Amino acid sequence: MNELKNGDSKLSTLVVKWYLLNGRKELPWRKNVTPYKIWISEIMLQQTQVKTVIPYYLKFIKTYPSLKKIMTADENQIIALWSGLGFYRRAKNIFKAKEQIKNKFGGRFPNNFNDLISLPGIGESTAGAIMSIAFNESYPILDANVKRVLTRHSNVVEDSPTKKNNLLWEISRKQTPRNNIFEYTQGIMDLGARICKPKDPLCSECPIVHICGSAFKVDKRKPKQRVLKNKPEVDINFTLAYTNNEYLLFKRNEKTFWQDLWLPSEEPKIHRIFKKNSYEQRNIDKKHKLTHLDLNLSITLLRYNKVFDIKSNSEYRWVKKIDIDKIGMPAPIKKIILEL
Ligand code: ADE
Repeated sequence: MNELKNGDSKLSTLVVKWYLLNGRKELPWRKNVTPYKIWISEIMLQQTQVKTVIPYYLKFIKTYPSLKKIMTADENQIIALWSGLGFYRRAKNIFKAKEQIKNKFGGRFPNNFNDLISLPGIGESTAGAIMSIAFNESYPILDANVKRVLTRHSNVVEDSPTKKNNLLWEISRKQTPRNNIFEYTQGIMDLGARICKPKDPLCSECPIVHICGSAFKVDKRKPKQRVLKNKPEVDINFTLAYTNNEYLLFKRNEKTFWQDLWLPSEEPKIHRIFKKNSYEQRNIDKKHKLTHLDLNLSITLLRYNKVFDIKSNSEYRWVKKIDIDKIGMPAPIKKIILEL
C-alpha cells in the first residue's frame, strides 16, 4: 500500500491502514457481505445510530436473508420489522424498491450506480456506499460522519449549506481512492463515529492528525449553542378497544407522522359504536417526543369481554396479542399496549 505511487490520496491511505487495525470489522453487515444486505444496512443507518440499528438489522436479515426471500413480502410485513426504529418511510421505500427490482431489473439486485440511484430511498451517498462496500468499486460517499471528517480535515468554512455540500462532494471525490475502497469507505465512517466525534474529537488518537486543518482546534467546550426551538405540540386522542386476547387496531392514513402504522382508533364516531357494547373504561396520558413534534397522547382504554364487528371505511382488524410483532406499530403505543 504505497500511497501517492498508486495515485491514492494520503488521507485515504491513512484511513485504510487505520481501518485494517482499528475498524469495527465485527459489525454484522461487514460479515458475509451481499449487495442486498448492504442495501438494508445502509437504509437503516441513514438516520439511526449503529448501536440502535444492530438488533433491527439482525432481525430483518433473519426474516429476509436474501433478495429472493424478501420478494414475496408485503408492505405491512416490512413495516412490522421496522416497528420502533422510526422514520418509517425507509421501510416503505424498501418495499417499493424491491418491487422495482422485481419488475424492472428481473429480480436481480442492480450492480451499477445509475440503476441503484433510480430506486426509492437510495440517494447519491447511499448508492456510493453500496457500490464501494458491496461491489468494491470506487465511488465517493458523503454521510454526516464523512462530512464532519472532511470539513475538519480540509478546514471548510462556508456558510451557504448548498455551497458547502457541493464543496464537500468535490473533496470527497478527490479523496476517494481507487484501491481498498471497501476499507476506505467503512474506515472513514468509523473514523467519524469514533475519533472525529462531533463533541470532544479524539485528535491525539487520530490517524490523520498531522494532515488535518483543524487538529486540536475544535472547541472542546460546548459545540455551537443550539437555539432551543420549541417543537410544536400535538394532542392526539386514541380509543383502544381490547379484550383479554385482542386489540382493535386501525391503519393510519394521516400523512404527518406514523402513516400506515397500526394504531388504536382516532375516529370519534367509531367511539359511539364501541359504546354499544359493555365495557370497562380508564384513561392514560403519555408524552412522546418525535424529531419534529412533541406528542401529548391521550388514550381511552375500553375493555370488552369479546370482540365485535364495526362498520368503518378505515382499514381495521382485531389483532391477537401474540401477533403484535407482525404489524407495524410505533414503539410508544406498543409499549402502552403490552403493559395493559
Ligand atoms: N453509517 C452508515 N453506513 C455505515 C456503515 N456501513 N457502517 C457503520 N456506520 C455506518
